[in-house]
Amino acid sequence: MSPAPVPLNQLPQWDALRAHREALGDTRLRELFDADPERGERFALQVGDLYVDYSRHLVTDETLRLLLDLVHARGVLALRDAMFHGEPINSTEGRAVLHVALRSQPGDVIQVDGENVVLAVHEVLRRMTRFSERVRSGEWTGHTGRRIRTVVNIGIGGSDLGPAMAYQALRAYSDRNLDVRFVSNVDGADLQEKTRDLDPAETLFIVASKTFTTVETITNATSARRWLLDGLGGDESAVAKHFVAVSTNAEEVSAFGIDPANMFEFWDWVGGRYSFTSAIGLSLMTAIGPEAFHEMLAGFHAMDTHFRSAPPATNLPLLLGMLGVWYGGFFDAQSHAVLPYSQYLEQFPAYLQQLDMESNGKSVDREGRPVPVRTGPVVWGTPGTNGQHAYFQLLHQGTGSVPADLIGFAQPVDDPYDQHDLLMANMFAQGQALAFGKTAEQVAAEGVPPELVPHRTFPGNRPTTTILGRKLTPRTLGELVALYEHKVFVQGAVWNINSFDQWGVELGKVLAKRIEPQLRPGAAEAPQDLDSSTRTLVQRYRTARGR
Ligand code: F6P
Repeated sequence: MSPAPVPLNQLPQWDALRAHREALGDTRLRELFDADPERGERFALQVGDLYVDYSRHLVTDETLRLLLDLVHARGVLALRDAMFHGEPINSTEGRAVLHVALRSQPGDVIQVDGENVVLAVHEVLRRMTRFSERVRSGEWTGHTGRRIRTVVNIGIGGSDLGPAMAYQALRAYSDRNLDVRFVSNVDGADLQEKTRDLDPAETLFIVASKTFTTVETITNATSARRWLLDGLGGDESAVAKHFVAVSTNAEEVSAFGIDPANMFEFWDWVGGRYSFTSAIGLSLMTAIGPEAFHEMLAGFHAMDTHFRSAPPATNLPLLLGMLGVWYGGFFDAQSHAVLPYSQYLEQFPAYLQQLDMESNGKSVDREGRPVPVRTGPVVWGTPGTNGQHAYFQLLHQGTGSVPADLIGFAQPVDDPYDQHDLLMANMFAQGQALAFGKTAEQVAAEGVPPELVPHRTFPGNRPTTTILGRKLTPRTLGELVALYEHKVFVQGAVWNINSFDQWGVELGKVLAKRIEPQLRPGAAEAPQDLDSSTRTLVQRYRTARGR
């Protein structure tokens, strides 16, 4: 067994960064740009369809060098290679982490327990292709012989957020005669609202769950089954034409009553939040068609290849990951905003919340010791320009600094009213204002009364990464998502945490299971050993419901 790594804050490379941070002091982005007229071009990379400008970060060449020293000291590249080789780097669950295999080329070989998983991946992709083509062409019909008009994906977390985000992102590439909806919340209103205008005879449910034991999904799927059978006269044989499953758990799928012939498989080496290029993407493939889905996979693969082979200094996920380490470690940044200047990417921040926060929201390292530095940030955001009229005030003039990603595209997918220039002008302007602000002298020179000068001054120095894609296409989306996946990987590796488990979601699930029977009609008084807060809430709830 190799010895436990030295805690991060005891490494000489961390000390060097600390000293460097002190030396930087209150260096302003304005000064960095004045000192280097080429900075905007030098601190940028083009990878595939993405141009990424990281010049508006509080870093110098020396910072980047020191951050890369830390990458080497932390064995990030070795862990990356171990992931690509299928080694069980998910240490607390003893599993390989191989979402990259989901977008591998047919001839590739990636072994897990002596088996080339690439073969299985492509077999499932072929089945997905056949199925989605049948639904799209109308060959797959419902129980009464009618064409499927709506696909409802029932899943939660990674079995919902990826396909839901990507469906929204790639809406323009979807078959507009086929509606796709996503039901996730155990709040019955979700299923009710998403099905109220649907005809069961024309509705197909895809029940997506890695484990097929997730209570929200099984509850919603059970209710959906009831809705279907009520609508179709109660004939149980209808289920086979209106329900398919995506899961790793054939036993539970069959126990639920879905024919395993209608199950699309994936594997325990695919983490839920890394799964939408697996069969979890079935609803998406049905919406946009197999060809566009494969284009998206090619985008993922291109970024995987870049991450695996580009030299560290020009390795985009590595750089973006290390910038996050820099701000968390030395600027006490607690949150990270993701601001897409694209309405199609409306759900991208929500998707990233799970990807990043479920991966790196950890406070013990792989050896179970407390991590001595700040780990994953709170990730949040909504599309620009909407956010500009809501919380951007705080981004510009609040007391803390929130590093942000501005994401936009040079070419619009569709711009019938010629509004794209205005949208993008706003994105460029926000990055500029956040970085350079407006000094008190500039404000005063405009004739602003002295008492208003402090109010109208913008401190600037607020870091942003600008991601300018060529155009939002399936391929670009693949590149973008893979970029963030690998960024999260890099950070987890530096912090020496296991980015691939999620034990932190368990306790609430167990407690909910215990509380639920106490809410039901006829339940005994809430037990006395319940804490007084929960007991009172349970009692008030029961009273309000007349129980
Ligand atoms: O509770 C968290 C979680 O396990 C996520 O990691 C996962 O994406 C989600 O629940 C759904 O799990 P499943 O696909 O097994 O239903």
